[in-house]
Amino acid sequence: RTAQVTIDPAFAIGAADRRLFGSFVEHMGRCVYGGVFEPGHPEADDDGFRTDVLALTRELGVSVVRYPGGNFVSGYRWEDGIGPAGDRPRRLDLAWKTIETNAFGLHEFMAWAARAQVEPMMAVNLGTRGVQEACDLLEYTNHPGGTAWSDLRRKHGAEQPYGVRLWCLGNELDGPWQVGHKTAAEYGRLAAETARAMKLVDPSISLVACGSSNRGMPTFASWEATVLEHTYEHVDYISAHTYYDPSDGDQASILASAVDMDNFIREVVATADHVAAKQRHRRKLKISFDEWNVWYQSRLQADLDRRGWVEAPALIEDTFTAVDAVVVGDLLITLLRHADRVGVACQAQLANVIAPIRTRTGGPAWRQSIFHPFALTARYARGTVLRTEPVAPTYSTARYGDVPVLDTVAVHDEERGELTVFAVNRGDTDLALDLDLRSLARPSGRSHLTLAAMDDPTACNTEAEPDRVTPRGTSIPTVDGGRCTVALPAVSWNVLRFA
Ligand code: AHR
Repeated sequence: RTAQVTIDPAFAIGAADRRLFGSFVEHMGRCVYGGVFEPGHPEADDDGFRTDVLALTRELGVSVVRYPGGNFVSGYRWEDGIGPAGDRPRRLDLAWKTIETNAFGLHEFMAWAARAQVEPMMAVNLGTRGVQEACDLLEYTNHPGGTAWSDLRRKHGAEQPYGVRLWCLGNELDGPWQVGHKTAAEYGRLAAETARAMKLVDPSISLVACGSSNRGMPTFASWEATVLEHTYEHVDYISAHTYYDPSDGDQASILASAVDMDNFIREVVATADHVAAKQRHRRKLKISFDEWNVWYQSRLQADLDRRGWVEAPALIEDTFTAVDAVVVGDLLITLLRHADRVGVACQAQLANVIAPIRTRTGGPAWRQSIFHPFALTARYARGTVLRTEPVAPTYSTARYGDVPVLDTVAVHDEERGELTVFAVNRGDTDLALDLDLRSLARPSGRSHLTLAAMDDPTACNTEAEPDRVTPRGTSIPTVDGGRCTVALPAVSWNVLRFA
């Protein structure tokens, strides 16, 4: 089987924004407690942050981290997480049927984010709370001083304001599972008023309005239209969330998940542009794809049913396969391909909860299979994203009909004179990819890394075998007269580098 791709620096989509390589830390399961924060662990620093997890977070290349939820934020009182740790209240977290100790709060997150070298992205509670509490939190976080909230922050040890730039106006309020679930009109009004007031407190912030929890929601698209009718002029992003569930074992379909994400992005863009046209806005809204991943969702209910009120239980600690890693690589290709309209993206979540980093409480941390495509894409997707129009055979899937076996995107770093092509072969046979690179000045092959899943699709990384699934170097592509042919193994994610 063969496929063709032409690369031309003239086909620019936009800059590969670092914020596309975001992640998410929610007070859920063992993401915070036992994940990023575990006082007493042999690898913990003086603040209780696991330095092994910090090192893996930096290696992953994460740029921005959304916090503190997720469903958790919709019942959260942010004031519970500030002040002397011993005085903080224990609360029922209704989202995950968990006891929240509040040992980790705003100051801990900010200190952790600085050590992880990531930009914090905060969410406010618009489930059970409203305009005032959101403004109070923003004043506490970003106002320099001389007011009750900002002086309280200083009293708690943070003399300088944190200067958080990105703020989410709630989480998944279209979902009936959300504490404080709302109709689109109810949420739209609340989000607009909260946004207006928050921008009075600090005009330099960027705001994200909640879009749909997934493309399959019955209210999808009409939710976005109504919410944006209320909020367009006050916000900078509309969010999108999606998780792809491999539980039914349909490998052909799960490998085509990026087709769904691609359609989702196009439809949200069309809806936002429709509202812009109607309301005569020139500014184009961007998407904050602030939750995405593979998730074996059928396991969640069992996790929640099994217990009463406990602290930091193991929740949805999915172990990802080699095929899941190929899917994650393809979802990253899709996000890059929409770099002109997707401005922020956060893989959910960072540690333990459907995460690239796994830990054992009291034990080691290791990289899941999905860690690798994320880390390598974050490392090499630098410069301008280029449109590629692959000509490739199709294969048939139960979920999405006929889909191309090949998905690609290219990123051109003009300054360094480097080109990186990310390519996924979704098909179950090898693919010979012909690359036409004649528009680039005398390119030569640098490397070809491949993560191939066909021989052992269910292979996973575990504590006992942490490096079973990793990308491997293969033969360096030879370029002749600006053309080159590379072999993409069946069911594989690939990084091809030229300079
Ligand atoms: O990431 C896990 C959960 O998935 C988040 O809390 C919620 O926003 C989504 O439904």
